[in-house]
Amino acid sequence: MNDKSFQNQLFQKETKILESAMEYVSKNNCSDAELLAKYQQLADSYRSLLKFTKKIFKINDAKGKEIKKSEGEIKKLLDNSNQGFLTFDKSLIVNTKYSAECMRIFNGKIGNCHIMELLSSDNSEQNELFKNCFEVIFRTDDIELRNWHINELPKKIKINDKYIKLEYKFINKIETFSEKDVLMLVLTDITEKVKAEELEQKIIQKTQMAEELAAANEKLIAQQEELTALNTNLEKSNKALEKANVELRQTQSKLVQSEKMASLGMLVSGIAHEINTPLGAIHCNIDLFKTIISRLKSINIMHEDQTVSDLMAKFETANNTNLIASERIMNIVKSLRNFARVDEAEYKDVDMHEGIDSTLLLLNNKIKNKVEIIREYGNITNVFCYPNQLNQVFMNLLVNAIQAIQDNGKILIKTYSKNDKAYVKIADNGIGIKPEHINKIFDPGFTTKGMSVGTGLGLSIVYNIIEKHQGRIWVESEVGKGTEFTIELPINKDSRS
Ligand SMILES: Nc1ncnc2c1ncn2[C@@H]1O[C@H](COP(=O)(O)OP(=O)(O)OP(=O)(O)O)[C@@H](O)[C@H]1O
Ligand SMILES: [Mg+2]
Repeated sequence: MNDKSFQNQLFQKETKILESAMEYVSKNNCSDAELLAKYQQLADSYRSLLKFTKKIFKINDAKGKEIKKSEGEIKKLLDNSNQGFLTFDKSLIVNTKYSAECMRIFNGKIGNCHIMELLSSDNSEQNELFKNCFEVIFRTDDIELRNWHINELPKKIKINDKYIKLEYKFINKIETFSEKDVLMLVLTDITEKVKAEELEQKIIQKTQMAEELAAANEKLIAQQEELTALNTNLEKSNKALEKANVELRQTQSKLVQSEKMASLGMLVSGIAHEINTPLGAIHCNIDLFKTIISRLKSINIMHEDQTVSDLMAKFETANNTNLIASERIMNIVKSLRNFARVDEAEYKDVDMHEGIDSTLLLLNNKIKNKVEIIREYGNITNVFCYPNQLNQVFMNLLVNAIQAIQDNGKILIKTYSKNDKAYVKIADNGIGIKPEHINKIFDPGFTTKGMSVGTGLGLSIVYNIIEKHQGRIWVESEVGKGTEFTIELPINKDSRS
C-alpha cells in the first residue's frame, strides 16, 4: 500500500460513522433543534479533530520515515566506513546491531558473543586488563573512575593477524533514554598503516644504514686519500733518498777516483823518479863500460891473450844485455810517467794509443801467459782529453777484461774514427755479463766479484770520466762469449761546448 492511499484510508471508518449519524439526525427531524445544533457543533469539532489528528499522523509518519531513512543512511555510512561499531552492556554480550566492518574484523562471529571471546588473545595481561576495566566501567557510578578505566583500556590490539585500533564510548542509559548502559567499541583496522609504518621504519633503518655506510665509505675514502698522500710523500722522500744515495755514491766514486788518481799518480811518478836517478847512473856506467871495453880491446890486440879476449867478449855481451835491460827499465819508467801523467792534468790533445800501450805495459804481469792482446789501432790522434783520466779508463776496462778471462783468452783493442768521433773498443772473450746485471754495471758499488776483490767503483769512475769528456760508453755482452765496451769521444775540440 502506498502512502497516499494509506492516508486516505486513515479515519475513513470514523468519518463514515459520523457522516451517517449526521444524515440520520437531519432526516429524522430531531425535535430538539437546540440539541441538534449542539450535536452539529460537536460533530464539526470532532471532524476538525479528526482532520487535525490526520494531519499530525501524516506529519509523524513523514518524520518517522525520515528518521528511518536517516537511520538507514547512518547504518549505510557506518557499514561503508572502514570502522567497526559494536556495543555491549554489563552482561558483556555483544549487541546484535553492529556495523559490517565488525564482521570482517572478527571473521563473522559477533552478535551475542561474549566480548572477551572476541577480544581475547595470547596476551594474558591484556585479557586481564580488559576484564577488570569492563567490570569497573559497568559497576561504578563515579564518572571519573569510569573514565579513568576507559582510558586504561588497550588502544591497539591484534585480532586474527590484523592490527586494530580501539576507541571506547560509554553510552549512559539516562542520557539516551535507553534501558541499559552500554559501552560502544569503535574498531579501526590499521593493519595496512602499521605495515606501512613498519615498512617505513625498515626503510628509515635501511636509509640510516645506507647513510652510515656512505659516511663510513667517505671516511674510508678520506683515509685512503690520506694514505695515498702519505704514500706519495713516502715515495717522494724515498725517491729523494734514492737520489741522495746515488749522488752520494757518485760523489764517493768521484772522490775515490780523484784520490786513486792522485795517489796512483804520485806513487807512480815517485817510483819513476826514484828509479830514474840510479838508472841514469847505471846507464852512464854501461856507456863507461862500453868505452872501457873498446879501449881494452885495442890494448889486447897487441898482447893477443886469448883468455882476456874471451873474458872481454863475455863482458861486452853482458854490458850489451845490461844496456837492453836498462833501456827496458827506462821504457817502463817512461810508461809509468806516461800513465800517471800528473804533470798533464789538463785538457790537451794526446795520442791515446800511447796511453793504452803504457797501461798494457803496467798490466804486463797479469797479461803474460794468460791473455793474447790484439791491437787494431786506427787513426785516432788529436783527441782532446785529460790524458791521465783516460788512462784510468783504459786501466779499469782492461783489468775488468783480464779478470773476466778465467784461463786463457784474448783481448781485442780496436781504435778508429768516424764522423769527428774517436772510438776505442775493448773486447774480451771472457765470462760475459748476465742480462739482469747489464743495467747495473755502471752503478757505483755494483760488483759481482765479492767485496775482497772489487769495490764496484771501476765502471762508475769510467762512466764519469767519459761523461766529463762529453763522450759516451756502452756495452754489449753475452754470457759465456764475452764482453765488448765501446768508448766514443769527440775529436774536434770545437765540437764541444
Ligand atoms: N769485461 C767484463 N766481463 C764481465 N763482467 C764485467 C766486465 N766488466 C765489468 N763487469 C761486471 O761489472 C761489474 C762492475 O765492474 P766494476 O769495474 O765497476 O767493478 P769491479 O770490477 O767489480 O770492482 P772494482 O773495479 O772497483 O775493483 C763487475 O763486478 C762485473 O760483474
Ligand atoms: Mg773493475
